[in-house]
Amino acid sequence: MIRPTLAVLLLFAVQSITVGDEPTSEDFGKTKAGQSVELYTLQSGKGLIAKVMTRGATLVQLHVPDKNGKSDDVILGWDDVAGYESEDNQYFGCTTGRVCNRIAKGQFTLDGKDYTLAINNEPNHLHGGVERSLDKVVWKATGYTRDGGHGVRFNYTSPDGEEGYPGNLNVSVNYYVPKDSNTLTISYFAKTDAATPVNLTNHAYFNLAGAGSETVLDHVLRINAATYTPVDDTLIPTGKIESVSDTVLDFTTPKRIGARIKKLDDAATIGYDHNFVLNPQDDKSKFYNLAASLSHKESGRTLRIMTKEPAIQFYSGNFLKRQTGKGGKTYAHRSAICLETQHFPDSVNQADFPNTILKPDEEYKTSTSLQFGIMQPPAAKSE
Ligand code: GAL
Repeated sequence: MIRPTLAVLLLFAVQSITVGDEPTSEDFGKTKAGQSVELYTLQSGKGLIAKVMTRGATLVQLHVPDKNGKSDDVILGWDDVAGYESEDNQYFGCTTGRVCNRIAKGQFTLDGKDYTLAINNEPNHLHGGVERSLDKVVWKATGYTRDGGHGVRFNYTSPDGEEGYPGNLNVSVNYYVPKDSNTLTISYFAKTDAATPVNLTNHAYFNLAGAGSETVLDHVLRINAATYTPVDDTLIPTGKIESVSDTVLDFTTPKRIGARIKKLDDAATIGYDHNFVLNPQDDKSKFYNLAASLSHKESGRTLRIMTKEPAIQFYSGNFLKRQTGKGGKTYAHRSAICLETQHFPDSVNQADFPNTILKPDEEYKTSTSLQFGIMQPPAAKSE
């Protein structure tokens, strides 16, 4: 009889963490307006733990193991609702919409009618508005299990005219962690009763060394994009689609984020803050396209982002201002990055960009998967 050694038993114990049957939920406090906020915990059998709250259907914590099995929270955020409601919150981890990114001068025309939205990022509209954008409202949540994995489905109905957008919009955001891998899949669904623009993303700020580490410039990034949408001085696309080759935006092969960023210090974007047009999926039968991959040598952590969206906004945390976050940690300038899968900015005013208008007989349906792993040592050379 073969007897497992102690080492094998220990390895097994580390690799297969026991997962409870259901995701758990707890009270996360109240908003200033007195609404209760719930926090759900989703856990994979491989060590990933995601905590998501009902305010803004927001990803609050994301713990993943490093090369030695040590877990760290790799996203920025706060320990309480007050942090998320403070001026310091720059959309940390939230569901962003109804339309993420910028709409030029907060204006668009749809079916012959002019719409005016809040100008909250002079002179433009940013991330869905001011008081009732999707990141600031409290959503309903239902936890569930599927194939042994944990999920939570958030739902919110945004009434006609909320933040200036037309149509009653019913939105769902589904976070799911399968049992057998360190993956978090975020899926979005929406239905409307009047034509309206919709462009949803998640705005997590990542640092694979652990949130609160001083810099993210030592991370290596690859973006699966040969082109991007250049912008004007107010970060609105000019309408052109240009090649990244021979520019600091060429991440078609893995590059250290800090290698060329100084060249963008004086640009309107003050660092990386660009919409990359993803290369078309080679294999049309595949559900997802690769958007980006990120790695951090010291911790050994890797992240692959797979998506059904046509683009990704790479934002290098240029406006982080040393705010104090979770566990008293400081979030320094460029100490985390956002990799926001989405449709192009200002699509509602750009006829040649992929469509973002949802009509009453259609369903908005999209999905992005965050796949965490560990860097593999280079394969030994064979003789
Ligand atoms: C990003 C955007 C940046 C900045 C940031 C929030 O999505 O591209 O320009 O607004 O959100 O501080």
